[in-house]
Amino acid sequence: MDRDSDIHALQHRLAEAGQSHLLWFWEELSVSQQQELHMEVKGLYLEELGQAFQKAMKDSSHLPGQEIMDAKMEPVSHEVLGSVTRNRAQLSAWEKEGLRQIAQNKVAVLLLAGGQGTRLGVSYPKGMYDVGLPSHKTLFQIQAERILKLQQLAEKQHGLKCVIAWYIMTSGRTMELTKSFFLKHKYFGLKEENVIFFQQGMLPAMDFDGKILLEEKGKVSMAPDGNGGLYRALGAHHIVEDMEMRGIGSIHVYCVDNILVKVADPRFIGFCLQKGADCGAKVVEKTNPTEPVGVVCRVAGVYQVVEYSEISLATAQKRSPDGRLLFNAGNIANHYFTMEFLKDIVNVYEPQLQHHIAQKKIPYVDIATGKLVKPDKPNGIKMEKFVFDIFQFAKKFVVYEVLREDEFSPLKNADSQNGKDNPTTARHSLMSLHHCWVLNAGGHFVDENGTRLPAIPRCTNGTSDAIQADVNHNLKDASDLPIQCEISPLVSYGGEGLEEFVKDKEFHAPLIIDRSGVHELVKNGL
Ligand code: UD1
Repeated sequence: MDRDSDIHALQHRLAEAGQSHLLWFWEELSVSQQQELHMEVKGLYLEELGQAFQKAMKDSSHLPGQEIMDAKMEPVSHEVLGSVTRNRAQLSAWEKEGLRQIAQNKVAVLLLAGGQGTRLGVSYPKGMYDVGLPSHKTLFQIQAERILKLQQLAEKQHGLKCVIAWYIMTSGRTMELTKSFFLKHKYFGLKEENVIFFQQGMLPAMDFDGKILLEEKGKVSMAPDGNGGLYRALGAHHIVEDMEMRGIGSIHVYCVDNILVKVADPRFIGFCLQKGADCGAKVVEKTNPTEPVGVVCRVAGVYQVVEYSEISLATAQKRSPDGRLLFNAGNIANHYFTMEFLKDIVNVYEPQLQHHIAQKKIPYVDIATGKLVKPDKPNGIKMEKFVFDIFQFAKKFVVYEVLREDEFSPLKNADSQNGKDNPTTARHSLMSLHHCWVLNAGGHFVDENGTRLPAIPRCTNGTSDAIQADVNHNLKDASDLPIQCEISPLVSYGGEGLEEFVKDKEFHAPLIIDRSGVHELVKNGL
């Protein structure tokens, strides 16, 4: 087909879909701009988009629909729940099972890193962010080192050399920077062939009438298709085949922004396996009704996450007789899937996933004036699929509850925006946890006069309720100044193995423990 007839075919398709305006500025574009726009528009699944738009608008438009959904919500039932505090006796068995699976190369981790970090306000992928730890490690480096350490722990326990494959989903906007960052840092010590990048799809932004918006005269406004774009991307890039070829049985999926994430957590994996689950979710107790976390719950008998943007305030505020929030299983975006389940999702269920819509302020080129408009109130929508929308297809779904202070401190906002989930709180959460690890391993901190500092803000492993209450009183949130203490993941994955470095010793903060030893930065004049 020659170029002219190709353009005519495209015009025809656009006219049928009610999107002819996308070529409005065609004559003003250079040849290369025309080619780019042509390629971009050609790649849009217009019919599917139109249907998704209609469906998503219909589902989300009416409050009564929301109320009906809220009325059907039920909290997680006890039978499916495991907890690091209530099931302490089983933790070591779960951990052992998880490490056994890792030692047999049966565990993979999958990082969702296709988001745009809009709230954080950086133009590069969030995993490259340095929250200002003494070591200045980025989120990617911390995660890579946790993987390395876990491989070592599994090897030590089972005498088998092993690999945890790391799949990293990026988007059109984050792929190149992410890949070159890993290359520059030599994959942080991991083997290149075990770090597998793949790219999720993009969808166009639309106005409230379903008209696709132009970002420039020759460019459609595109955004990643949500972290639930994962499943389509896994199929499109043959990632499932790669996993099968490697003999993977369990997959831990997680988000890039949680500085405390226990990548490939053996306890979580062991728990899910021992329960015979095909799908699982890690949660922390949600204590504030307006916290921006989704809640795991049942809706009409089926497990799902009701996202923070989709729950009504009245429902979020409901309390149980014990005073806790009724819907308190806060989703921390750590999910477990068996290989079989993931295969079914990719091959069978993915097309059934619905898009969620978010109203946004989307800059666009006005067709009438040709000028770029930056709206100050929402003018359109972005459609996204959510990673957890597949819970509904699980045959056996389980929930694993962990402690927030041990495992959840996400980086969402810039320091300047508000006091929550920002670089400062992320940094403080990690250092408070590591401070706690040092104390638990028998170490002490002293001030400049050599006086021992009072024990920890909070210690979660084996701490009595009385101490915990005291701790909660002392450390209201992670923005209180913690003792500066950072332990390399290459030394300890979850607080283990620190006695040889710290037992019965006294330290001045800032303290770093890494593979080369223990460093007191001030004492050593660093
Ligand atoms: C997410 C969860 C929410 C949870 C919260 C915990 C979803 C849909 N929501 O919300 O239930 O309580 O984390 O912190 O999972 N991403 C992609 N591609 C995209 C969009 C996002 O890979 O198109 C990735 C991001 O890079 C990030 C993760 O998905 O790693 C979560 O995205 P984000 O937008 O930060 O989710 P939240 O709204 O905070």
